[in-house]
Amino acid sequence: MLRTHNAQSLNLNNKGQKVTVAGWVDRRRDHGGLIFIDLRDRSGLLQIVFNPETNKEAHELAGTLRSEFCIQVTGVISPRPEGTINEKLPTGEIELLAESLKILNTSETPPFYINEEVDVDENLRLKYRYLDMRRPTLKNNLIFRHKVVHLMRTFLDSEDFLEVETPILTKSTPEGARDYLVPSRLHEGTFYALPQSPQQMKQLLMCGGLERYYQVAKCFRDEDTRADRQPEFTQLDIEMSFVEPEDVMGMIERMLLKIMDTLRPDAKYPRHFPRIQYSEAMSKYGSDKPDLRFKMYITDISDIVKDSEFGVFKNTVANGGTVKGVVLPGCAGYSRAEQQELVELTKTYGSKGMVPLAYTSEMASIEELTPETVKSVATKYLSVDQLKEIAVRMGANPGDLVCLIADREDKALEYCGRFRQDMGLKLGLADPNEFAFAFVVDFPLFKWDEEGNRWDAVHHLFTAPFEEDIPLITMENAGKARSQTYDIVLNGFEIGGGGIRIHNAELQEKVLEVMGYPKDIAEDRFGHLIEAFKYGAPPHGGIAMGIDRVVMLLCGADSIREVIAFPKNQSAQDLLFNAPSTVEKQQIKDLHIKLIDD
Ligand code: AMO
Repeated sequence: MLRTHNAQSLNLNNKGQKVTVAGWVDRRRDHGGLIFIDLRDRSGLLQIVFNPETNKEAHELAGTLRSEFCIQVTGVISPRPEGTINEKLPTGEIELLAESLKILNTSETPPFYINEEVDVDENLRLKYRYLDMRRPTLKNNLIFRHKVVHLMRTFLDSEDFLEVETPILTKSTPEGARDYLVPSRLHEGTFYALPQSPQQMKQLLMCGGLERYYQVAKCFRDEDTRADRQPEFTQLDIEMSFVEPEDVMGMIERMLLKIMDTLRPDAKYPRHFPRIQYSEAMSKYGSDKPDLRFKMYITDISDIVKDSEFGVFKNTVANGGTVKGVVLPGCAGYSRAEQQELVELTKTYGSKGMVPLAYTSEMASIEELTPETVKSVATKYLSVDQLKEIAVRMGANPGDLVCLIADREDKALEYCGRFRQDMGLKLGLADPNEFAFAFVVDFPLFKWDEEGNRWDAVHHLFTAPFEEDIPLITMENAGKARSQTYDIVLNGFEIGGGGIRIHNAELQEKVLEVMGYPKDIAEDRFGHLIEAFKYGAPPHGGIAMGIDRVVMLLCGADSIREVIAFPKNQSAQDLLFNAPSTVEKQQIKDLHIKLIDD
């Protein structure tokens, strides 16, 4: 090794010891003949002192050092002189009195400061990712990610799981996104698809009798990138035989508690994760991934306002719609402009509008409400009783702002849900140190796809229905069938999802039929799996966790790009390699492909 110690491993116990360290120049300071270097390696910082009286040559060479030079220094560990101790630094009580210096490599001036946590344009950080990685934030995130994945692996090993790799060049598995395709050179006109997830593979592993499988699996989905979405991401993919939903959820709960107890014992999190029905999540939070750190429940007031004089409410309910809303505590004092901003916010979700009702502090209690104490365009169209009833139903107090949206039920829920989430965060109702894990369970099996005019799977088409709902799998009733599914959610994010699978060929064929797959296409895409079911396939189920999302949330990052070593930017480009890029004409020809411009 080119060093005897890393920086952080040194302390007063090494006093008088001759050591060699290697790393980067974080900072150089010249003071009264002495040159001070903060040497940075992965573990941290160490102060090095070059004294011309110890080694004139080394001191002179130290004078040429600049930020990010890579160096090796040998010297003796010494306590820092009185008054120069740096309590903020783990190595702050010592310094290395340099005896020799070797420059292992010089460095050009970096395009951004590495030794200061200043904001740097993200595209620049992505282009120079290897420099960004020398900064503490990204480095610490990657270390944290390593620890999370390591704990996942040791936990699953202790529960008798086998880690099995599955192919990247494979056939399309529908998970709802577009596939990345790879043209075949050997088989003209055909394509491999990169896996959106190893879903069918893991089910086949269960058919193969492996019983308990996991994989840290790369998944590829050609969809728009977002803060919590990358075209290429990593799942902790899991499948188990002979299980019921509770077995999978219990296992995930034990694993996440192990991770939290080890890495975030400082945080607030439940010892038992609540199981919330999908229908309850939707009606109370307007979301299948509710942020449970704050209440702000969505309340339906359709029956209170259906006979009111307020046209928007009255007509919406008369046309089969609903009026729902949330209470913003303490926000009755918002100015007209501020209220208008909230209305505009709801419009960004797609809503036609929102009606704020300010229950002002001018009344001591809701009992004393008069039309003058509720400020809103709707006040004059609502009776005092209606205004009171709305407040009581919604739990609004004087000083609160009630925000109401009238629309078709699913839309009203969606808009209220998004508004609840945005406002909960904005009003500081969500404790950043709380991790409100929960399972959302029993999703519907199908949803109606208005564009495609067909039934689509809510999770994916391999999901098992409730036994008693199997007769509902018909064109007319499919919307009523429930599935044996569970998502794990955390603070408004879906961090994992799974379910019990179909393991019976006939049932799988029935589901495909109701989803409108013609027999030949069903056979071409899923024939291999359906055939496998005919050879004693065991009952099985599983889950996949989004590792990037878990790590992002646990280390408090605001995008999964902050926890991925080489992420794509928002336009799905790799700025370091400059990918995607053009390729040689011959390569394209070899693949039997013709570009439109050729
Ligand atoms: P699903 O599609 O819900 O299920 O994915 C599982 C989890 O993976 C994460 N995730 C993503 N993370 C980052 N970028 C993306 N583009 C992205 N897409 C998904 C989420 C999500 O909860 N085969 C099924 C699992 C199963 O049924 O076992 C599947 O892939 O955290």
